[in-house]
Amino acid sequence: MTFSIHILTLFPEFFDGPLKASLTGKAIERGHFDVQITNIRDFATDKHNKCDDLPYGGGAGMVMKPEPLVGALEKAREQQPKAPRILLTPQGERFDQHIARELAEGPGMILTCGRYEGVDQRVRDHWIDREISIGDFVLTGGEPAAMVLLDATTRLLPGVLGNEESIADESFGEDDEMLEYPQYTRPRSFRGHEVPEVLLSGHHARIEEWRRNKARERTRARRPDLLDDQE
Ligand SMILES: C[S@@+](CC[C@H](N)C(=O)[O-])C[C@H]1O[C@@H](n2cnc3c(N)ncnc32)[C@H](O)[C@@H]1O
Repeated sequence: MTFSIHILTLFPEFFDGPLKASLTGKAIERGHFDVQITNIRDFATDKHNKCDDLPYGGGAGMVMKPEPLVGALEKAREQQPKAPRILLTPQGERFDQHIARELAEGPGMILTCGRYEGVDQRVRDHWIDREISIGDFVLTGGEPAAMVLLDATTRLLPGVLGNEESIADESFGEDDEMLEYPQYTRPRSFRGHEVPEVLLSGHHARIEEWRRNKARERTRARRPDLLDDQE
């Protein structure tokens, strides 16, 4: 069964470029996963196609109305009864490689992009399964966050990357949580800066050891929290 991603948004055009570019575009073309975009506005119920309204109780900004959002969520659910309905929000659990791996195991996901001040709480309480944030900052809308989830999750699907080893080896890997070691490519000397000798030695065991040490050093300096569990 193909992994299916359904994105609910007020700005479908946001995804035109990112879904065509690079590895993501190729993977969709090859059928490794599929993406459907739904314009929430198509489910507006009043004659002005309104999707936002003033907050009860007053205050700044507008709130996304429940009718169009729930219409779009119900349609998506009909098509994908088993996919989690996710709301992108800075108030959600923090997205990381563990969640990406977990989502990649599933049948797909329904990604709901918020706008304005946020989403009517009743939609969050009754039509959303999971709330996810991509970090402690506030975006204008959920679209870039949806693209982050899509990218990080789909590159873990079988066949998408081509070289499966690159997943095992990279930062936040399944076996150890360390950051990746430094990488070099040709030329051997660039503006007076040399590639470390050991990488040119052809000695696989020494190269492995150097990489392990560098990964640990870098992780200790930048993300000691990742080592806490392992030491
Ligand atoms: C301006 S934000 C609303 C922020 C909201 N007033 C709050 O304080 O939590 C508009 C939309 O952008 C999206 N968004 C903003 N920051 C995000 C983040 N860090 N992760 C995921 N989605 C985010 C959400 O969909 C949100 O509904």
